[in-house]
Amino acid sequence: MKILVTGGAGYVGSHAARTLARRGHRVVLYDNLSTGHAALAQGFPLIRAELADVALLRQALDGVDLVMHFAAHAYVGESVLNPRKYFQNNVQDALVMLNTVLDCGIRSFVFSSTCATYGIPAQIPISEDAPQNPVNPYGDTKLFFERALNAYSAYGLRSVLLRYFNAAGADESSQLGELHEPETHLIPLALDVAAGRRDHLDVFGNDYPTPDGTCIRDYIHVNDLAEAHLLAAEHLSSGGSSLALNLGTGQGHSVKEVISTVERLTGKAVRHEIKPRRPGDPPTLVADPGRAQKLLRWKATRSFDDIIRSGWSWTTRSAAKQ
Ligand SMILES: NC(=O)c1ccc[n+]([C@@H]2O[C@H](COP(=O)([O-])OP(=O)(O)OC[C@H]3O[C@@H](n4cnc5c(N)ncnc54)[C@H](O)[C@@H]3O)[C@@H](O)[C@H]2O)c1
Repeated sequence: MKILVTGGAGYVGSHAARTLARRGHRVVLYDNLSTGHAALAQGFPLIRAELADVALLRQALDGVDLVMHFAAHAYVGESVLNPRKYFQNNVQDALVMLNTVLDCGIRSFVFSSTCATYGIPAQIPISEDAPQNPVNPYGDTKLFFERALNAYSAYGLRSVLLRYFNAAGADESSQLGELHEPETHLIPLALDVAAGRRDHLDVFGNDYPTPDGTCIRDYIHVNDLAEAHLLAAEHLSSGGSSLALNLGTGQGHSVKEVISTVERLTGKAVRHEIKPRRPGDPPTLVADPGRAQKLLRWKATRSFDDIIRSGWSWTTRSAAKQ
């Protein structure tokens, strides 16, 4: 298959691109490098362009069988302060892209959605049938686009909506890994403290109704996510129907567990300070990944320790390059 990967110079998209290429698919990356990095696109044709640049997008879509759409703004806090930026990119420009995809005759689409579309869940683990009530504009934009994809089945579009929980870790080669600027994700921040690149880590709340009082999240290795994208593409190319699937491990880890695991595996201390809770942080978010296991025959195979170890190799390698 020839696959266009929007956001392919970003964290998750770059890992997915390698997994697709290793399986023999032809991959073209489409990215404006707003938060992506040319270094993560190495070895692939990269079209540096905006989602809404219809002329360039049409050229990029020549001969493409399927589109994987990772390109988005993805900072929850920023989306609260500047929602316009999020609706512009994740909805308005993304719809221009989707309409161009349809106009070019492509009917297979894989979308990076998020557990943020569920908002504050009433039940853990979260199944795909849980109500979707986002509590921030980022989640709203992702849910909007999910709904557009569902409605576009009217045009014969088949889509797989992949709702990731917390992507983490790095490619086992240590050539690729998480590179967000600014970094807001817990594991890379904890690894940076261990590597001496940050003074300390802020822990937002230690009085949650969880066993150790800190928030629990479902961390999923980025290459397990990448493999789910490959299976989703192959599901669609073999005529499979539209799906919405949670991608997580089904296991939760608290902030304190993240810190103690980083300390155990790196042998370094992770200095941290307890801060007040952040508004809108649910105590626990853990996926029920049963549907993806059943319908895609996908299961996360990498452990929590694998996530921390691969992230540490990437952190120390990228620190050495600086
Ligand atoms: N990282 C996570 O834990 C996580 C969890 C759930 C969902 N997601 C979703 O996965 C996707 C990828 O996330 P990520 O962590 O890799 O983020 P990222 O910022 O590393 O990657 C996004 C990429 O999209 C590109 N991009 C953004 N707007 C664009 C535009 N208008 N035109 C062209 N390119 C554009 C950026 O340059 C970047 O390379 C996003 O859609 C995000 O919402 C991520």
